[in-house]
Amino acid sequence: MSYSQGMLKEDVFKGKVMVVTGGGTGLGKSMATYFSKLGASVVICSRKFEVLEKTAQEIHDLTGNKVLPIACDVRIYEQVEQVINETERLLGPIDVLLNNAAGNFVSPTERLSHRAFDTVVDIVLKGSYNFTLAMGKNWISAKRPGTILNIVTTYAWTGSGYVVPSAAAKAGILAMTRSLAVEWAKYSIRSNAIAPGPFPTEGAWSRLLPGSLKKKYDPALKVPIGRVGDHQELANLAAYLVSDFSAYINGEVVTIDGGEWLKGAGEFNELDKVPDELWDAMEMARNKTGSKLKIAWAYFKGIRKIKK
Ligand code: HXC
Ligand code: NAP
Repeated sequence: MSYSQGMLKEDVFKGKVMVVTGGGTGLGKSMATYFSKLGASVVICSRKFEVLEKTAQEIHDLTGNKVLPIACDVRIYEQVEQVINETERLLGPIDVLLNNAAGNFVSPTERLSHRAFDTVVDIVLKGSYNFTLAMGKNWISAKRPGTILNIVTTYAWTGSGYVVPSAAAKAGILAMTRSLAVEWAKYSIRSNAIAPGPFPTEGAWSRLLPGSLKKKYDPALKVPIGRVGDHQELANLAAYLVSDFSAYINGEVVTIDGGEWLKGAGEFNELDKVPDELWDAMEMARNKTGSKLKIAWAYFKGIRKIKK
């Protein structure tokens, strides 16, 4: 058994129809692939139709199940409604909405134009509420249950410099997730979110670690578990949260980051840089068990290790 294997039983999603925004690439593609492997009919939508078409064919070849690519800019409400109508016409009523599409880049905030700020907030927050609103209206008027899963990130609650439009937008999605979990529960609509830490994707890595940043900054070093995420472990979590196995989970945000954000938050977590020699020296001094020379030598060795 390993985290890079699928977790749920084959065919658990047979008969289900699931829409994945931004499903042509990266994490959206991985989650859509797993939903399809589990038997779902999947719609993937984003702006670039050629990319979607290629991914849809790839997933279908792998799983044999229906995968429908539909071009859509999530910022435009009418296009979102078209995705829902087209899906229902070709595949039947929708069971699951996965709001995964996003836009992001790193920049000092004062260097951003107001259009740059709009662009990220519109893709991330407006895109998610457009789909959520259109889907919610659809489910409520048809008296059908539904499940919403939103992809946020851990800086939705900590905030983060240099990605301020994304942080503000993801925080908005988190607030929407929790608000609707309560308001729409009476319609049998559940809302949950996943907050991933670093998972390698071309889309995120190229925009968040551009140029020489890639060489200087290894995301795995910030993660207590010592590695970045594997797409399958995110897909496993997403599949669980959109399945009926998680029927009692509503309004939750599940972090999947190997402990990364807590490492940055805990007051003394940086002490993991303190080597054993220094802890030995402090212990000897505290318990008066070492000679002055021995203690000084242990300090010296410890400090030399930190400097390295
Ligand atoms: C500053 C920038 C910029 C940059 C674009 N702009 N890139 N400003 N730094 N790197 C500005 C432009 O100059 C323009 O403003 C405005 O933003 C709109 O730019 P366009 O290129 O016209 O926008 P568009 O074609 O809609 O593309 C959207 C995009 C692009 C966000 C800029 O990168 C994209 O398509 N991204 C989609 C995929 C993506 O970003 N994936 C990563 C998700 S990762 P002006 O004023 O000049 O008109 C993620 C991870 C989170 O979310 C957590 C990780 C741990
Ligand atoms: P990605 O491959 O760049 O995925 C983003 C997707 O969004 C693309 O498929 C893109 O397709 C689509 N998209 C962008 N603008 C759109 C628009 N206006 N309308 C419709 N679709 C649009 O990046 P990723 O890393 O897989 O990110 C997926 C999700 O995970 C995002 O929500 C991201 O914030 C989140 N996340 C990622 C990480 C990570 O480490 N990778 C960490 C935390 C959270 P088109 O270009 O075809 O439109």
